[in-house]
Amino acid sequence: MTSPDLPAELKAALDGRLRGFSRNDAATRAASISKTYRDGGGSGAIRSETDALAYALARMPATYAAVTASLNALAEIRPDFAPASLLDVGAGPGTATWAAAEAFPSLQSFALLDANDALRALALNLFSDSFRLRETNYERGEARSALAKAGAADLVIASYMIGEIGAAEQKALAELMWQKTGDTLLVVEPGTPAGYARIIALRERLIAQGAHVAAPCPHDGKCPLAAPDWCHFTQRLQRSRAHKQVKGAELPFEDEKFAYVALTRTRIEKRPARVLAQPEISKVEVSAKLCTPDGLAWTRTPRRAKADYARARRWRWGDAVMDER
Ligand SMILES: C[S@@+](CC[C@H](N)C(=O)[O-])C[C@H]1O[C@@H](n2cnc3c(N)ncnc32)[C@H](O)[C@@H]1O
Repeated sequence: MTSPDLPAELKAALDGRLRGFSRNDAATRAASISKTYRDGGGSGAIRSETDALAYALARMPATYAAVTASLNALAEIRPDFAPASLLDVGAGPGTATWAAAEAFPSLQSFALLDANDALRALALNLFSDSFRLRETNYERGEARSALAKAGAADLVIASYMIGEIGAAEQKALAELMWQKTGDTLLVVEPGTPAGYARIIALRERLIAQGAHVAAPCPHDGKCPLAAPDWCHFTQRLQRSRAHKQVKGAELPFEDEKFAYVALTRTRIEKRPARVLAQPEISKVEVSAKLCTPDGLAWTRTPRRAKADYARARRWRWGDAVMDER
């Protein structure tokens, strides 16, 4: 399992860029960019070097943690998956590329694309300190036109990206990303009902084109959750001093809620169930909400079933588990 916290090399590169910048300026810009996001805007508000750095300091640790958690889930289901090439769509400061490089030592070629000059410049700057990522190919351009020109990759990732484009554009982009996917496509979004709805729409569209779900779902059928419920997960990450300062936060950690889907070209037999919320543990039983190959299940594992109870006690929200009832 790869750690959800930023690798030391990236932390050092970010800290290095922060030298010479006022942390107060970065905090002000980060607050203003966050407000734009909350008001439904996108990363168009990120225009300058300070904006890009403020965004990266405030958000990169959390999006990195969400992508890493999704890649860990994928690697658990497909332990033999060893991609050689990566395509990071809407790569911004390069977050998903860093996460994939950590999760898959097999990766040798890294291609990225994004429309935002300031984020692209920051990504290249951060990569320049890394032996492994120094030689990336980062195209500047609109996702669809840049993707059309890109080569296929074993692993394609779009992290916190599809929410920034319109619904019709999302459909076309989903299909284009799938065309460029040699093996696996991972799409990660914020863990909100809207983020989940985007993931579910893309999932359905691409399953109709022959994709199979590797994670989180244990099946390729319709999602069994009904509104107001939605499928999402949470990942805890540590906050560095700079991260706390830029966010004006006190707590040394934060919990990032995210939704994701990893789609593959090959069908995976016997997929485990997925824990959909933090199980409740009492002295009498463990009750858990699972998504199983046969649909949604609320399981109760009584204490008297000693071995099963001990196993269920260790279940955490987001885990893949064998449901042997
Ligand atoms: C919220 S940021 C996420 C960046 C990065 N993937 C991450 O996880 O940190 C969204 C990114 O998508 C890019 N983006 C949005 N719409 C785009 C489009 N139509 N073409 C190319 N890039 C786009 C933005 O420029 C921005 O870098």
